Parts: sequence; C-alpha cells; structure tokens
Amino acid sequence: MKSVKNVVFAVAAMACALLPFAQAYSKEAPVVSKETPEQKDVRMKWWREAKFGMFIHWGLYSVPGGYYQGKPIRQYGEWIMNNAKIPVAEYAAFAPQFNPVKFNADEWVKIAKEAGMKYIVITSKHHEGFAMFRSKASPFNIYDATPFKRDPLAELAEACRKQGIKLGFYYSQNLDWHHPGGGMYYKKGGVKRWDPAQEGDPDKYVDQIVVPQVKEILTQYGEIPIIWFDIPVGFTKSMADRVYKTVMECNPNILMNNRLGGGYRGDTETPEQKIPDQGFPGRDWETCMTINGTWGYKKDDAKFKPAEDLLVKLIDIASKGGNFLLNVGPDPEGMIPAGEVNSIAGVGKWLQVNGEAIYGTTASPCATPAWGRYTKKNRVVYAHVFDWPKDGKLVVAIKGIKSPSATLLASKAKLDVKETAEGLSITVPTEEPDKVASVIVIEHQ
Ligand code: GLC
Repeated sequence: MKSVKNVVFAVAAMACALLPFAQAYSKEAPVVSKETPEQKDVRMKWWREAKFGMFIHWGLYSVPGGYYQGKPIRQYGEWIMNNAKIPVAEYAAFAPQFNPVKFNADEWVKIAKEAGMKYIVITSKHHEGFAMFRSKASPFNIYDATPFKRDPLAELAEACRKQGIKLGFYYSQNLDWHHPGGGMYYKKGGVKRWDPAQEGDPDKYVDQIVVPQVKEILTQYGEIPIIWFDIPVGFTKSMADRVYKTVMECNPNILMNNRLGGGYRGDTETPEQKIPDQGFPGRDWETCMTINGTWGYKKDDAKFKPAEDLLVKLIDIASKGGNFLLNVGPDPEGMIPAGEVNSIAGVGKWLQVNGEAIYGTTASPCATPAWGRYTKKNRVVYAHVFDWPKDGKLVVAIKGIKSPSATLLASKAKLDVKETAEGLSITVPTEEPDKVASVIVIEHQ
C-alpha cells in the first residue's frame, strides 16, 4: 500500500477555512439549452450522490478473449478486431460461438450492489459493431445472430429495476468496424479500413444504424438515465446533431458524457485510467478505469488491482468531487471473472461501514493532507486517514469553525478535539480501525 500512497500524496497540508468552499460545483452552461442551473442540479442529483458505478464491457470480443489464430493480440481485448485486422465475415463468425448460458442478470446486479456500486453502465454496442440487445436496425445482434436468443439488456434492465440500481448504456456511435460506413480509428494517415466490406457511406451508417439503435436502447428498456458515447474523432457536427436530437427526443433528462463529438460538452468529463490531480472544478466528472489491463475480457489477464488499491482510488476521486466508474469484463459464458468480483467486494465491505463518508459527499474543502483525504457533506468533514498517526494525534488543518466535534465512523467513539495554531488536534486510539482507510467524522456548528 505504501507505494500507492506515496505517489498520491503530492500536496502538502495547509490550513483552510471551510465556508468559502461550500459550493463544490459551479453553475456552468446547461447541456439542454433551456435548462436552468437549478434544473440541472436536480437532473444530476442522483448521479452526484452515487459516486461509484460499475462499467461493463461485454461483447463478441469475449469469445476470442484476446487470442486470434492461436496468438495473443496486444492491448485491449475489445479492440481485437482492429488490432489483428480480422476480416468482417471472419469476425462475425464468432457470433454462432457466443452462447453465454451462465449469464444471470440478477447475479450481476447483486455483485454490483454488494460492491457498493449505485449504477451500471454496460456496452450496448462497442466498436466491433455487435449489438448486445435485440435490434431491428441490424441483424448483427446477440438475439438474432447467436444461439443464445436472449436480450441481456432487457434482463439487466429488469434486474436493475427489481434491485433498485440505475442502468445506463455505452454506445459506440462513431467507430464501427462491422457496418459499412462505420467510423475507423483516425490517425495521421486518415481512415484505415482493412476489409472492403467496411466501405460505405458514413451518413447512411449514422442514419440507418446509429440513430435507430440509439432510439432502441433508449426506448425498449424503460427510462435509461445515462448514455455513454465514445471516441468522437472524425464524427462530424451534423452526425452528432442527429444523434443528440434522437437522445433528447427519447429522454431529455438523460445524463450524457463528453464523448459524442460535434462540440457537445455533455454533462460529464471522462478521464480514463487516471485520476486528475485537481478534479475538474466547475464540471461533473467520472474516472473510468479497468480492474486489470483490459476493458473487454482477455483470458490471460488475471492481474487484478487489489481491493485496497481500488478503495484508495475511490476515496481520492470522491475527495476531488468525482465519480468512479470501475470496469468488469465478463467472459464468453456470461460470468464476471472471480478475481474482479473479489476485488470489488473488498471495496463494498469497507463501504458498508464507511459509506456515509463517500455517498452524497462533495469535494474536499481543504488542500490534501499528507495523511489521507477529505470529503464533505453539509456541516461534516470526513477525514479518510490512510497513514494513521503513531503518536495518537491527528492534526486536521481546519480553522475557524464553531464547536468542532469528532467521532470515529466505524465505532462511533467520540474523540477529543483541541483547537491549535495548526488547526484541530484530534486524539485517536493507537490502533488504527482500518488498515487502509479509517474515517473520522468532524462536525461543526
Ligand atoms: C477507450 C477504449 C475503449 C473503451 C473506452 C472506455 O476509449 O478504446 O475500448 O471502451 O476507453 O472508456
């Protein structure tokens, strides 16, 4: 753990006064033109409070699982079609092999809930072009093209409704390596297609595949609160306009990320595989991250980040006002790898005791202390202590607050607080309550 902590603790502790920092989110221009800042706050409320979500990358790519013609293919599993330049017809031949009979939507939702996650975002179609739902717009979908003959998104939507957790959809609006005219990965050399079957009219692709499929995923499964687009490079303003219009017609209350293209900023910044040093002042944001080294399933990748690491990351993100969208990559049978389940379950165990210091909190009102992180909720500051003080005194550099009191969140034990020149000096037990992060609740009038 030490090494993670040392990297994270770059900023020195400074004394701070609480009140000027009370408003964590500034009122920026709303995504829907007529929306007032207050209406936006209402729309974003559940998401801002949720803090922790499950990203699921699941598609045909789980069948090859990182291997093509017996050879391991480098980088992300869901990019295998592009990275190995697999011809369209050959790739489509994975579909008859895709029969995830162990898929159990209730079980997945239970795993997410036990990890303390409050929402799920699943790939409805990734860059491979394969719809993980029953689609009239393209037969290249899990219902029509596989022996499975079920619609996992319908089952997940139902399970989420039953278990009270939100479900959002990732949709690759631009890159599509299957449908004629779908976007490619743009590099300096321009469009790089590897199969003549990919040639086609990009506008037709948008009108005949993207627009109808976005409509399908946003209307077939009840109200969907999140749409998560990806990689807009090369997506024109007119294409983005058509997609955006469709989204708004389906659900004007939806939350959209910042990857549609066409100049749409969306509601959320989406730092990927990293936690920004300062968050995004004035913008909502969500770090998305893999547990191992891939989003989509790879047979060989069992290098899972341990629960302790994920927990420190969640706390770090919350202290900067963001959300954590943590990915799992189910296998071709429909199981979330056990190593991933174990790691996230560890985070869930901590949240069961300490969740109030994460859910519904806003960014730290103070500079990052050397010993850990702060989160805030109304008149409470939560001190998440990673490095427990050996001398039994925790110095919290908060000044100018009225009648501060402190308790240990896990045991509710009252702690002695003295106001000193450096801030509050809190007397803590010598034994740390939690080896990774112990939370002290500091309340003031
Ligand atoms: C990157 C990857 C893509 C993945 C996404 C998640 O854009 O290329 O495969 O879905 O990150 O944020």
